Amino acid sequence: MNEPCGFGTVTPKITEELALILGAGSVSSDGEKIAAYSHDEVAERFWDHPYRAEVLVFPESTEQVAAILRLANERRIPVTPRGAGTGLSGGAVPACGGILLSLERMNRILDVDTDNLCMTVEPGVITAEITRAARKAGLLYAGDPCSGDASFIGGNVAENAGGNKVIKYGPTGSSVMALEVVLADGSVTWFGGKRRKDVTGYDFVHLMVGSEGTLGVITKIVLKLLPLPAFGVDLLIPFPTVESAIRFVPRIALEGRVVPAAIELVDHHSLSQAEKFLNTRLPFDQAAAHLIVQLEGNDREVVADETERVGKLALEKDALEVFVADNRSSRDKLWKARKSVAEAIMAYYKNYAKEDIVVPTDKVPELLFSVDALCRKWDLEAANYGHVGDGNIHVNLLMADDRPHWHEEMEKVRTELYATVKELGGTLSGEHGIGLKRKAYLPQFLDKAQLELMQRVKLAFDPKGILNPGKLVFWDKNGEGHEA
Ligand code: MLT
Ligand code: ZN
Repeated sequence: MNEPCGFGTVTPKITEELALILGAGSVSSDGEKIAAYSHDEVAERFWDHPYRAEVLVFPESTEQVAAILRLANERRIPVTPRGAGTGLSGGAVPACGGILLSLERMNRILDVDTDNLCMTVEPGVITAEITRAARKAGLLYAGDPCSGDASFIGGNVAENAGGNKVIKYGPTGSSVMALEVVLADGSVTWFGGKRRKDVTGYDFVHLMVGSEGTLGVITKIVLKLLPLPAFGVDLLIPFPTVESAIRFVPRIALEGRVVPAAIELVDHHSLSQAEKFLNTRLPFDQAAAHLIVQLEGNDREVVADETERVGKLALEKDALEVFVADNRSSRDKLWKARKSVAEAIMAYYKNYAKEDIVVPTDKVPELLFSVDALCRKWDLEAANYGHVGDGNIHVNLLMADDRPHWHEEMEKVRTELYATVKELGGTLSGEHGIGLKRKAYLPQFLDKAQLELMQRVKLAFDPKGILNPGKLVFWDKNGEGHEA
């Protein structure tokens, strides 16, 4: 059952028309296949009811995407773009049925332009392939989401994925120079270009970034590349308390005079889940928290000097030890553990709130104190980890037991958590997006003026509301005739 959104339905005639555009092999009405594609990493038990697309399509070119949108716009059929399904907010869930547009066959790297230091790709390229292609050319693609081995770059752009290197290089959007976009009516346009500066009109590139498929379908992406740092090390630093770990973070820049590529926090509960999941052990794994600090540069001596400085400073500030991972296998082991935390938690717990909160970095300790208080009040466990250098903590509130009304209870816990986050000057999502999962809470963080402005932007781009309906934007019931 889908939301009553007042859209047209996908009739057999429309399926036939889609097959004419794409070829019969690229259109599926198979119920099982549609079910498999109709969700992301958010388990279906988190929704009131399962959402299902009516038809699944696999375009291979911009022209095909344009033809699909022309048809959908004419008949007012919803279109939900979908990448690899690694999202954590239900952004690719077809909330109003209609056409589920998988971009997995648009998966080519079109050029690696070493003169302009950029790469042009289709949205279905796996993020890690982009990293590898850049590295092969001696260059760095700086996006590094934890799901990079599976996620598609199109999804990274649509959600403005962050990941581990934001502190130095910014989120995905900082690497996006240009986008080819199919608009709701099927017209095709380019925003931006292979240029480093551009104030010729509104910055549509960065309006598209993070717009969760609600404004257009991205069909090509030009990504900025950088020189590849020649040397890198990762410091694994255990601390006796989570607070001491967090308090050390600003010292790295202030007293250490270093801008690391990454500063990640993994608390004890998070680390133990990842260790169990991977059947591995990291040093000092009984410590309350670990920081992972990544340093990189082109001069071996400079990197060694920074490593020593940060290490010495950490020991002065209560660190229990400093482990330096400076070869491929030790670095990989460490990052594998860090990147597995989310999957491990989802494997071992059934009922949880998996959050993506951001607060000003100096408020992280307060945030975590209030998480402790919530856990005591509601009898929950917590696993807190993530991009502490950005103030973006993945607070995971976990129910060890199976409670009959766990969902309602979790909603209350989230409401209380968000009230604190708001008070601390924080916000709802740093990198996972709003999607279906957080939409009800948007008005807690955006005022009426902003919500209305978002509606008007949406209307300007997509007057019939066909693009990923149900996400991000609230529709006026009396306006376009459907409620998202
Ligand atoms: C991460 O940082 O591990 C990812 O954003 C996934 C998550 O923790 O929820
Ligand atoms: Zn993250």
